[in-house]
Amino acid sequence: MRNTSLALLVALGLASFSVMADPASAQKLADKYASIAKNIDPESKGLSAEAGKAFFNRELTIRGKQIACASCHTSNPANPGKHIVTKKPIKPLAPSANPERFSDVAKVEKNFEKHCLEIIGRDCTAQEKGNYIAYMLTVK
Ligand code: HEC
Repeated sequence: MRNTSLALLVALGLASFSVMADPASAQKLADKYASIAKNIDPESKGLSAEAGKAFFNRELTIRGKQIACASCHTSNPANPGKHIVTKKPIKPLAPSANPERFSDVAKVEKNFEKHCLEIIGRDCTAQEKGNYIAYMLTVK
């Protein structure tokens, strides 16, 4: 894990997150990202589910292929996804369909870092992560 993520994990207060799997945990985590985003950029106007949705569906060209977060997680995050390479099933990302999502901060950080790096070539910012979860929370 790179130092930035480690710092973020510490800032997110790993210890304060018990694994209580329900949508309230996802909301709590979104709030944490929102306050970190505000610390990084005082101009931050809070989280945007709209921006999170756009981010989720935005296709980028990776090794000649058009890939978005939605490519594996499908355009409806309440539906089960499928890995585009291994074809393995992926449980829904939306907490309404899968209450375990966004409740384990270490897992969330690990996946964000890995997937953001793969898709956009860098870790996502706190603002992007917060927007992403805010969008997931709107999906019923
Ligand atoms: C190539 C397929 C693929 C793509 C593309 C992809 N993911 Fe994932 N994602 C997975 C798999 C596999 C898992 C882990 C399996 C699981 O948790 O069900 C996962 C899990 C996650 C999780 C864990 C959530 C939790 O609390 O359990 C997050 C966050 C995540 N992905 C974010 C993203 C973001 C952001 C993007 C786009 C930048 C993205 N993913 C694109 C395959 C993908």
